Amino acid sequence: MTGAPNGVPMVEPRGGEHAPVLRDAAIDSLAIRADGCYVDATFGRGGHAGEILGRLGDEGKLIAIDRDPEAAAAAAVLFSGDTRARFVRARFSDILHHVGPDAADGILFDLGVSSPQLDDGRRGFSFMRDGPLDMRMDPDSGESAARFLAVADERDIATVIARLGEERHAKRIARAIVTARASGAIETTGRLAGVVAAAVPGREPGRHPATRTFQALRIHVNDELGEIERALPQAVAALRPGGRLVVISFHSLEDRIVKRFMRTGSREDPVFAGLPQVPAAARPRLKLVGRATFADESEIARNPRARSAVMRVAERIAA
Ligand SMILES: C[S@@+](CC[C@H](N)C(=O)[O-])C[C@H]1O[C@@H](n2cnc3c(N)ncnc32)[C@H](O)[C@@H]1O
Repeated sequence: MTGAPNGVPMVEPRGGEHAPVLRDAAIDSLAIRADGCYVDATFGRGGHAGEILGRLGDEGKLIAIDRDPEAAAAAAVLFSGDTRARFVRARFSDILHHVGPDAADGILFDLGVSSPQLDDGRRGFSFMRDGPLDMRMDPDSGESAARFLAVADERDIATVIARLGEERHAKRIARAIVTARASGAIETTGRLAGVVAAAVPGREPGRHPATRTFQALRIHVNDELGEIERALPQAVAALRPGGRLVVISFHSLEDRIVKRFMRTGSREDPVFAGLPQVPAAARPRLKLVGRATFADESEIARNPRARSAVMRVAERIAA
């Protein structure tokens, strides 16, 4: 396997259809039983969900979750008349509520933003397409990127861009944003991309100067890291013993949370090390399955977004 989680893709993916990243590896890792219950916590346009359905028999069940209204529309088409499948428009940080405890044989998270979200200028995710500066996966809740940039103080903007974009010019960019908004609110992706490009000295080859800033704002607006932190323990509680947790991340900030969660969950609480009796709550709840998996060169050639993908798998064990 080659490739590495290198933080930010060099370019945004092009093309209309969303190709599910690490499709076969993820589906195989779920170890699907025809009569099992599976959860796709990030339905997107249903690439992975369709594969799961294809492996289920009449008794199998699929619960698909996504916070995006366009994912809901895609699910209505994909699941039309299929009584095995149910779509829930929700945040995956409510997964336990929607799935229930000890209910699932496998749960998949394919994190981040989908290619159709990026490709649609009206959603405001992309510096390559001019549109309203929105960036919310769920446009019906929370604060848009334009609103954040209109009201946040310079220091908060710089912190977001530095931490979530790992952008070394964050302070300059925040200063430029605050200067620019004094002469009119920054309401379009095109204007923001221009402000950032003018503020950043020099150019990294193959990367638009606004790449890291757009990534940071998207992660902030959607509270992407907080969502993962809250969802993972719930996902484990929603799994039956023997059930698989499969997570595909696209940058190091996400993967760090997933890696640490799976490692900690697969070890006994060190407080009880060496004691003859370990309380159930302190015993490991997970067993790691294999090592991190990356996309190979042929997948990366077909889908540049796969370059940053890393998949980790763990199995729920009885407490
Ligand atoms: C990378 S795409 C998934 C693509 C999908 N596997 C497919 O094959 O089409 C990620 C999806 O997860 C959704 N998403 C991201 N964070 C979410 C959250 N916290 N709650 C619910 N959905 C979320 C996004 O709206 C997006 O549609």
